[in-house]
Amino acid sequence: TRTAILISGRGSNMAALLAAARDPAYPAEIALVLSNRADAAGLAHAAAAGVPTAVVESRGFRGDRAGFEAAMQQVLDGHRIDLVALAGFLRVLTPGFVERWAGRLVNIHPSLLPAFPGLETHERAIAAGVRLHGCTVHLVSAGVDEGPILVQAAVPVLPGDTPEALAARVLAEEHRIYPAALAWLAAGRVRLEGGRALVEGAA
Ligand code: GRF
Repeated sequence: TRTAILISGRGSNMAALLAAARDPAYPAEIALVLSNRADAAGLAHAAAAGVPTAVVESRGFRGDRAGFEAAMQQVLDGHRIDLVALAGFLRVLTPGFVERWAGRLVNIHPSLLPAFPGLETHERAIAAGVRLHGCTVHLVSAGVDEGPILVQAAVPVLPGDTPEALAARVLAEEHRIYPAALAWLAAGRVRLEGGRALVEGAA
């Protein structure tokens, strides 16, 4: 399954997906890494790994989200992409784009959704005093950080945790669950029932 990873920055989740996809048995082929910022650090890593990269600068579109997405769509079509994985992609997508990719667009979010959608999740988890925090891989639907959940992983919030320490603990789990969830989706093991995702053969 020809898969594009969309990034805006560091790209550590992208790197985890690239590493998993190196296994010939992995069902997703990473055919493109697309960034909305030319300075995204992840682009160099992808290029070094021999993966085609592209940049569609969101800045150039000055709030014209539909125009930005049309430009992205053209690049995705040009690479014959079937599946899109958002990995630290910091642009909100329009309902039109989300609809176009329904069931084939997946995101990772650093919280146990529906708790803490949006940004600065680790700060907010600490401030809220929750004892468990974590990450979620979900299919993307029109709302921000919403959509059927594929998998979650929880980590403890420890006394004296800083946002950075907590983020690192969560990130290690992100790098574990995202490759697993993308594999399920690429292998056609995910089906939707009543707005929830069911994974065939998963516990
Ligand atoms: C990750 O925490 C991801 O969950 C969130 O943004 C961060 C991106 O990190 N959506 P990276 O670019 O994958 O290193």
